[in-house]
Amino acid sequence: MTKIVVLGGGKIGEALISGLVNSGTDPQSITVTNRRPERGEELRERYGVRDLTDNRQAAEDADVVFLCVKPYMILDAVAEISPAVEENDVATVLVSMAAGVPLGAMEDAVIAGTPVVRVMPNTPMLVGRGMNAIAVGRFVTPEQLADVTELLSSVGEVLPVAESDMDAVTALAGSSPAYFFLVAEALIDAGVSLGLTRPVAEKLVTTSAAGAGAMLSESGQDPATLRANVSSPAGTTVAALRELEVSGLRAAFFRATEACAKRSAELGELR
Ligand SMILES: NC(=O)c1ccc[n+]([C@@H]2O[C@H](COP(=O)([O-])OP(=O)(O)OC[C@H]3O[C@@H](n4cnc5c(N)ncnc54)[C@H](OP(=O)(O)O)[C@@H]3O)[C@@H](O)[C@H]2O)c1
Repeated sequence: MTKIVVLGGGKIGEALISGLVNSGTDPQSITVTNRRPERGEELRERYGVRDLTDNRQAAEDADVVFLCVKPYMILDAVAEISPAVEENDVATVLVSMAAGVPLGAMEDAVIAGTPVVRVMPNTPMLVGRGMNAIAVGRFVTPEQLADVTELLSSVGEVLPVAESDMDAVTALAGSSPAYFFLVAEALIDAGVSLGLTRPVAEKLVTTSAAGAGAMLSESGQDPATLRANVSSPAGTTVAALRELEVSGLRAAFFRATEACAKRSAELGELR
């Protein structure tokens, strides 16, 4: 049984735990750590995982440690558990889920030779539909990479990327669920403005978003074709699309993703 540690049971830590447990990982093989014991208790009660407040103790004999703390805490966290990892009989692999922090900085913060993987996940892991972009450090063996890939595959898709692309990946995957949620929120408000009740507007929007998402991932057709298929000449949809274009939707996404990638790079420098 692979012994898994989730260091930092916040939003992304919980999404990972939920995805792993729902896909059949034994909850007793997962230990979550938090500074606040009450948060650990909450996760233990919700998912049946073990919980600790001592990161070093949790890292003892762990096969994989997923680091799910804020980016500015990552280097302290890897340095904290590094001595315990060094003493383990198993070759523990550290997997950082943090935006911005480069592999090289983490490799420098741990005892030389410790295997480190950098992942940019997103919260749809919670429902087994995550996107995990992965860049691999110098000391990771093919077996360790296979283990990490298998675990991440149980909570979503895994895509190897060049580490130099990670800031752009953050803009397109790590943060993008929030863009879609914002669009859904705005559409619901727009529906209410058109006179629909909020529950009806929510039902219409969330079902349409889920259906469109399924078509994007399962139809094999690109977004432009799918959109064109909904756009009859001089019809209702093109009237709406014209307004979105005039309002600068496309340019807004260029600017938003640029800001996101820039912020990701900055987080890597705030060490
Ligand atoms: N949220 C996203 O959508 C998303 C997407 C992609 C990547 N990420 C990355 O995931 C990481 C976590 O983000 P998040 O949104 O999940 O943050 P978060 O909700 O604040 O979670 C961080 C968790 O870490 C715990 N923690 C803090 N210091 C700790 C320590 N020394 N030892 C053990 N646990 C500690 C905190 O709980 P206590 O205060 O109780 O310790 C908290 O539950 C970040 O690096 C972020 O870049 C997040």
